[in-house]
Amino acid sequence: MKAKYLDIKKSNKIDLKEAGAVIKNGGLVLFPTETVYGIGADGLNGEAVKKIFIAKGRAQDNPLILHIADTKMLPLIAKDITKMEEKLMDAFWPGPFTLILKRTENVPDVVAAGLDTVGVRMPSSNITRELIKEANTPIAAPSANLSGKPSGTNLEDIKEELEDRVDYMIDGGECEIGLESTVVRVIDDVPHILRPGRITAEQIEEVAGKVEIDSHVLDKTKEGQKVLSPGMKYRHYAPKSKCTLVYSKDNDKMVEKIQEILNQYEKTVVIACKENQASYKANQILEIGHKDDLEEMSRHIFSALRKVDEFKPDMVVIEGTKKEGIGLAIMNRLLRACEYQYIEC
Ligand code: TXA
Ligand code: MG
Repeated sequence: MKAKYLDIKKSNKIDLKEAGAVIKNGGLVLFPTETVYGIGADGLNGEAVKKIFIAKGRAQDNPLILHIADTKMLPLIAKDITKMEEKLMDAFWPGPFTLILKRTENVPDVVAAGLDTVGVRMPSSNITRELIKEANTPIAAPSANLSGKPSGTNLEDIKEELEDRVDYMIDGGECEIGLESTVVRVIDDVPHILRPGRITAEQIEEVAGKVEIDSHVLDKTKEGQKVLSPGMKYRHYAPKSKCTLVYSKDNDKMVEKIQEILNQYEKTVVIACKENQASYKANQILEIGHKDDLEEMSRHIFSALRKVDEFKPDMVVIEGTKKEGIGLAIMNRLLRACEYQYIEC
């Protein structure tokens, strides 16, 4: 059955009572956050959470984030919070920042995929927080996409894929950030970035004095290797089409290399910035924003990755960026999208 659809793109008064009741009654709600859309269920109801795994086709060993509206909800789900963890919460909540904390027995095993920890995030989106308040429970939610596909950053991109798999959909328009939250675990008082996002390593270092970037952020996970964040080991964000990522600090060199690759194929797509698009000879050019405007690039990259297969190309070439600041999060997603076919020149 198709989900009920609520459009709040243009409303200034949002009423999420009905959506909150769906969560409370064990149903699934597709909802916007400032990062990406999520598929939510009552995070304290194991049976409801199981439906998320089925809806997404998600591996059982990949844990979910619990979303809270305020710190009052925190003691219910997390315990033994350290000074450093508190410092990070104070600095980055509400916002696109997830902390891996020790979980309480209220958190169903299925949420944590059997781990003794739980990911917790307090989103800055008013819509998300209003939904959590109406549901009156922490909401367990992964990104809204079928497993392996790029996360949904506007409802049009994911409506068809998910409308038969959830009970209710909230359309809040395009997500402000477009990349999933930064995931951090504090180990021996040092924050480790397990997944980079809009909250950057540089910002975390400023607050904590130090920061570590987990090796899986940019490197490929080897078969059978143990990872701190299970989500890092799965095929992710990848279009069906073959993709290559290219980057050079020297823009002319990058453009030249990309054209050289495009010339070797018949049907091609290039994902490029506004300033460079006129330089390419390709069958399709998807433009994702101004050069070096990493916020604009973040907002548009998943939507572009979702489009490329429509053209059935035999090669997609994507312009990369520097791996600093928000660039680290963008390159983390693009490397996976290209299954590590990466040329730096
Ligand atoms: O921005 C976001 O974080 C979005 C929105 C909806 O909030 N959510 C999201 O969820 O991206 P998901 O499930 O697609 O990604 C969560 C990531 C996965 O890589 C997962 O393995 C990791 O966080 N994670 C969750 N709980 C964890 C835990 N207890 N320990 C280690 N990693 C965890
Ligand atoms: Mg995801």
